[in-house]
Amino acid sequence: MALRELIEELSSIDKTTLAAVVFVGLVTYRVYYHYSVYVDVESVGVPPGILGPWKAALRHTKEADALIKEGYKKYSKDGKFFKIASIPRYLVFPTDPKHLQEMNSAPDHVLSFGDAGADRISIDYTMDHSFRTETYHLKVIQVYLTQRLSSILPEIISEVTLAWQENTNIGDEWTEVNVWDIMLKVISRTINRMYVGLPLCRNQEYLDNLVEYATTTSKSGIIIDMAPRILKPLVSWYILDKPKKLKKLMKFVGPLFEERKKKMKELGDKWTDRPDDAIQWILDSAPLGADTDTESLVNRILFLNFAAIHTTSISITQALYDLAVHTDLHNPLKDEITSVIAEEGGWTKQGLTKMKKLDSVLKESQRMNNVTSIAMMRKAMVPYTFSDGTFIPKGTWLCAPAAAIHKQEEMQYDGFRWERLRKEEGQAAKHQMVSTSVEYLSFGHGRHACPGRFFAANELKILVASIILNYEFKSPTGERPKNGHFGVSCVPDRGVNMLFRKRKDV
Ligand code: HEM
Repeated sequence: MALRELIEELSSIDKTTLAAVVFVGLVTYRVYYHYSVYVDVESVGVPPGILGPWKAALRHTKEADALIKEGYKKYSKDGKFFKIASIPRYLVFPTDPKHLQEMNSAPDHVLSFGDAGADRISIDYTMDHSFRTETYHLKVIQVYLTQRLSSILPEIISEVTLAWQENTNIGDEWTEVNVWDIMLKVISRTINRMYVGLPLCRNQEYLDNLVEYATTTSKSGIIIDMAPRILKPLVSWYILDKPKKLKKLMKFVGPLFEERKKKMKELGDKWTDRPDDAIQWILDSAPLGADTDTESLVNRILFLNFAAIHTTSISITQALYDLAVHTDLHNPLKDEITSVIAEEGGWTKQGLTKMKKLDSVLKESQRMNNVTSIAMMRKAMVPYTFSDGTFIPKGTWLCAPAAAIHKQEEMQYDGFRWERLRKEEGQAAKHQMVSTSVEYLSFGHGRHACPGRFFAANELKILVASIILNYEFKSPTGERPKNGHFGVSCVPDRGVNMLFRKRKDV
């Protein structure tokens, strides 16, 4: 059954073709498993027999999260490694924090995050092969977006507030709101206020195309990853239809790059007041020799959207679902937000860092509902041996069992857990939402930890704070909507509505 569900989940296109692709992928997997990479660590969820890994790989599509938790529970006591089968490959999990640190310390030419990430979304087909070697778009986030957080705060606040108001119609009576649908619109619009600015960031056709692009890219990337190498170009041509999707987005963003390049050529260094947006950041970050034709540049901005839109929309939806069933936290949050804004004389970046209860509920939600069950993916580019002698052949994938680490000891939801911990001596920084470690992996950890987390945390705080200040909200059933798991991805239930009404004390 898992195969049919997998195809339904992934596909908005011809199902027979997809079934064929997945089938061929599965056969390839079998060959791959038996004749290529063999990692001598314990397997989880692989039934005995020649078809065992094949069945296990199918189970992975729906039960990866549960299998990883099972493996972690069984093997972490002794700090042992374990592996689970997925359709394209085995995933190997260290459970000892020491081994996760070793993984993190290994250089990229030994254990590569970039290659694992690129394979996972089939970057050569979904985006561009140059992403494997040229990663200057990371600088756009690390340097430009992050360092400008203070100065761009007023724009984030105005866009978040306006986008929420324009997409909802909430009055004094309880009103049903599909949080997921609204948040996709709010988040894509806000991030694009930073990336491409006004007026394009408010063009709904552009935003819808972006969301569709991000969704198709991620789903198609996974399918292409399952296909045998020889069939990848064909599968990609058939299911992705990249030229058509790219053309639609080129229509919106292409002219912005063209215009900017022209002006840079005309004015050169004399152009001192260049716009402060991602169009400019990309042009300024592109190293000498990088491909700067308009299509390549547009690809970079699409990647930045791809990385930001779904991760942030999922996170805000999860946080609101948690708060919709923990309504007792609303007033303490409101008191904290109100007093910080009063103390600071308005919204400031410094003020956002002082909102520790708010930070805590967001972090707790991330802990309970990881966007992915795994983090710190690495592909072994050469054979690698851990300090305990565990041998990892070239081509093996290593991952941190993030969701399993987060939920050990069956810790129940406790919204202000991290705020309390931060009061303990020397713990103030460690328990912030953006502080990563081998124990808190929602944004990954180490050299490749999410560079967008500082921006995302601020955006999430502003959104939750403005909702808490202005509305009451709750789950209509009193129950928290259940998460769905697909492979290692964890997604909120997108079909449910929450109830909102204006606060009477605003
Ligand atoms: C709440 C929202 C977000 C979550 C939960 C999230 C989560 C993650 C995770 C788990 C990773 C992998 C890190 C690792 O495993 O070590 C990652 C990487 C990445 N994220 Fe995010 N992310 C979020 C928002 C963003 C935003 C807003 C941006 C862009 C502005 C962004 C850009 C990236 C990029 C470019 C990488 C790859 C880093 C590299 O190649 O070194 N993310 N993110």
